[in-house]
Amino acid sequence: MNILILGSGGRECAFAWKISQSPLCTKLFIAPGNAGTAQYGKNIAIAPTDFEAVKKVCIEESIDILLPGNEDPLVAGVYDFFKQDEALKHIIVVGPSRDGAILEGSKAFSKDFMQRHKIPTAAYREFDKANYEEGVAYIQNHSLPVVLKADGLAAGKGVIIAENTADALEAFKNMIQDAMFGTASAKVVVEEFLTGIELSVFAFTDGKNFLLLPEAKDYKRIGEGDTGLNTGGMGAVSPLPFADKAFMEKVVQKIVQPTVDGLAQEGRIYQGFIFFGLINVGGEPWVIEYNCRMGDPETEVVIPRINNDLVEMFVAMHEQQLHSYSLITAEKAAATVMLVAKGYPGTYEKGNEVTGCEQITNSLLFHAGTQIIEDKIQTQGGRLLAVTSYGNTIQEALQQSYANIEKINYEGKTFRKDIGYEFKD
Ligand code: AMP
Ligand code: GLY
Repeated sequence: MNILILGSGGRECAFAWKISQSPLCTKLFIAPGNAGTAQYGKNIAIAPTDFEAVKKVCIEESIDILLPGNEDPLVAGVYDFFKQDEALKHIIVVGPSRDGAILEGSKAFSKDFMQRHKIPTAAYREFDKANYEEGVAYIQNHSLPVVLKADGLAAGKGVIIAENTADALEAFKNMIQDAMFGTASAKVVVEEFLTGIELSVFAFTDGKNFLLLPEAKDYKRIGEGDTGLNTGGMGAVSPLPFADKAFMEKVVQKIVQPTVDGLAQEGRIYQGFIFFGLINVGGEPWVIEYNCRMGDPETEVVIPRINNDLVEMFVAMHEQQLHSYSLITAEKAAATVMLVAKGYPGTYEKGNEVTGCEQITNSLLFHAGTQIIEDKIQTQGGRLLAVTSYGNTIQEALQQSYANIEKINYEGKTFRKDIGYEFKD
């Protein structure tokens, strides 16, 4: 089968690495891809949200399976675009329809969905210009800290946690009156702050049944000890010692199953990955957010821990046969450490040469913001390379990644040295 992956991050590189190993994969394309994906397939320089360009590639290359890596094309309705087009509708799209992707596309929708289906989530209210004054009064009486979330997609930046009421009111004004996140913050969810350990849980669903994939934890802050600005993710580990059988059973019963059933009951077509951003509050799982795709950098540890053939899994999804499909998970732990550009997540340089990639041994190197320009690997983004290793323990895997990181060089090399710090074996 011919397969097209949309995206250019470490997640898409991990997917490309895995899919290229499948005997069912004839030709693999990545659009636009990066310096790493070029090792596993052919990069095509088009934007994932340019559906006409995606269509052209699908026809020219006789694509059988489309895997959108990030949320933008899904929330914009790439599934629906394919199913409504005579020339494309036979193609398997691994991802939800627009009506399913709205779980990520609108925070207000997702909160309401969780309430409808009795899925545990923080108490909240939603506000816009029409009930702005009510929102001000609500925030004035709210416990602290208080969480404000832009309703729409804001490239991972739309959440503000205010420690005092004055900051909360200012952020509320900025979001609604001054369009701080553009139209994404025309509506704002104001919610209760939950205290606990966060984790990422993933299900792969065919719309009726689902497989629970390995869980992971990502490290979102730029600074060691989880300090500083939020990033796309600085590293990840899997599995998580605290996510034991009893906890994961609660996750399935209270969250995953009602989500899959709720989507089906509401007639929302959803075949693909569901990402549950959860928080463990005293042993009970609560939902912080949904995403309609896999996580990045979580994919760089989750996919290496899955021993199944992914293409076979995609076909089973399409045939709604996941109930008779078993996931085979590697016993070994996996850890990934992200190398980023100096200055990220603020402004950073591009165009620096990366050397030493060929010297990596006993780790997987997933490229993110790199491109091959004039036969050299060059930095072209904030997050650059994810170095993933296996180990008998998380710490063993991390040691291996850190040893290999020594061999990679570029101007302004930056990474967190404390990934997995809370999991000393
Ligand atoms: P999100 O963009 O929804 O992933 O939110 C970004 C981050 O904000 C999450 O990863 C959490 O660390 C934090 N966060 C969001 N909602 C809450 C909440 N209700 N309580 C505590 N932390 C939260
Ligand atoms: N690592 C978080 C995300 O992919 O949204």
